[in-house]
Amino acid sequence: MAFSLGNIFKSLGGGGGGDVSVLGIDIGASTAKLVQLRSSRGVAILETYGEIALGPYADQPIGKVVKLSPEKAAQALTDLMKEANVTAKVAGVSIPFSSSLVSVLDLPKVDSESLKRIVPIEARKYIPVPVSDVTLDWFVIPKDERQDSAFDQIETKQSVPVKGQEVLLVAIHNSTLQNYQSIMQNVGLSAGFYEIEIFSAIRSALGHGLAPQLVVDIGAATTKIYVVERGVVRMTHLITVGGQQVTETLARTMNWEFEKAERVKRERGFIDASAYSADENEKIKQALLSTLSRVFSEVNRVLLSYGQRYNKNVSNVILTGGGASLPGIADIAKTSLAAQVTIADPFARTEAPAFLGTVLRDIGPVFSVTIGLALRRLKHD
Ligand SMILES: Nc1ncnc2c1ncn2[C@@H]1O[C@H](COP(=O)(O)OP(=O)(O)OP(=O)(O)O)[C@@H](O)[C@H]1O
Ligand SMILES: [Mg+2]
Repeated sequence: MAFSLGNIFKSLGGGGGGDVSVLGIDIGASTAKLVQLRSSRGVAILETYGEIALGPYADQPIGKVVKLSPEKAAQALTDLMKEANVTAKVAGVSIPFSSSLVSVLDLPKVDSESLKRIVPIEARKYIPVPVSDVTLDWFVIPKDERQDSAFDQIETKQSVPVKGQEVLLVAIHNSTLQNYQSIMQNVGLSAGFYEIEIFSAIRSALGHGLAPQLVVDIGAATTKIYVVERGVVRMTHLITVGGQQVTETLARTMNWEFEKAERVKRERGFIDASAYSADENEKIKQALLSTLSRVFSEVNRVLLSYGQRYNKNVSNVILTGGGASLPGIADIAKTSLAAQVTIADPFARTEAPAFLGTVLRDIGPVFSVTIGLALRRLKHD
C-alpha cells in the first residue's frame, strides 16, 4: 500500500547538529507524498521521503482518485509519517491548483498601497465566488528589461505616458484552507505555510534559465500545464485528464480490471514486454497513447498561444507528477511536442546517498511539489 525508504535513512543516522528538519507535504487526488529535508552548510540534505496511495482509505484500488474527509486524509498521512520515520514538526503544505485561481492581471502602474485597494476590486472579474470567500495574494511581475531598449527607457522617463504593470493574482477558497488546516491539526503538525502546488514544483523542477519553460504536471485526476519565465508563472492551464484516465482506457481496451491496468502501466508503460504478443504490445501502446495524446495536444496549444501572446518561444518542456514516470514517456513526448523535453529530477536539488541515485531519478517526478515546499521552508529557517 505504501513504500518508503525511511528506514534506510534512519540507519544512516548522521548527526543532526541542531539543524531543524522540515517537511514538504503534498496530498494529491490519488496519493499523499512527503519529504523531510535538513539544511547543512547551505545544502539540503534528504532525510526521508515516502508516498502512500489514498485509494485504500476509501476502499478503492491504488491509483484511483478519491475524495477523503479530513479525518481519513489525516489517517493516511499519519500512516505515511510512521512508515517514513518522520521526525520534523513543521511543514510546508501544497494546495491543489484545481482549488485555486491563478491569473495575470493587466493593471495601471500604481504604488503598492493603491494596489491593496485595486486588486480585490479587479479580482471580482476573475473569481466566480464572493471575494470574501477567498484568501487573496498577489505579486507584481518584474518587467522584462530586455523588452525596453535604453532609448525607450529614457523616453519613458521624460514624456511617454506611464505603461501598465502585470500582477500575478492568486486566490484560494477559504474552505479549502480550512480543510487542510484541520488535516494538519489532526496529525499534530504545524503548517508553516500553504502554497499552490505549481509554485512549489517550479522551485524544485526547473532550471534557472531566463528563457520561458513549460511545466506539465501529470497527476492522477488532472494535468497542470504552466509556463514559467524568469521564475515567474505567466500562463496556466488545467485539464481534467490524468493518470487515472490512462489506466481506465488501458483497462477497457485490454478488458482488464483497474488494478491490473494500473500495475502494467507503471511496470512497462510504452516499453514492449515479452509477456505479451506483438499484437498485445501494440494495443497497450495505442491505449496509453490515446489518452496521453490529449495531454500533448493541449501542451502544444499552450506553446502556440504563449508564443503568439509574448512573441517568444518556450525552450523546454519539463514533465513532472506521477504520470511523468511512465516508462518510455520521454521519447513519445519528444515526438509529440514542439519543444525539447526533459523529465523533472527534483532530488537533484538535495544531497542523498549515492546508491539511491537511480531510484531517486526514477521516482523523482512525483516528489517535485514536496521538495519545492521543503526547500522554501528551509530558506525561512
Ligand atoms: N511509474 C509510473 N508510470 C505511469 N504512471 C504512474 C507511475 N507512477 C505513478 N503513476 C501515475 O501517476 C498518478 C499519481 O501521480 P501523482 O501522485 O503526481 O498524482 P496526484 O498528485 O495524486 O494527483 P493530482 O495531481 O491530480 O491531484 C497516478 O495516476 C499513477 O497511476
Ligand atoms: Mg499532484
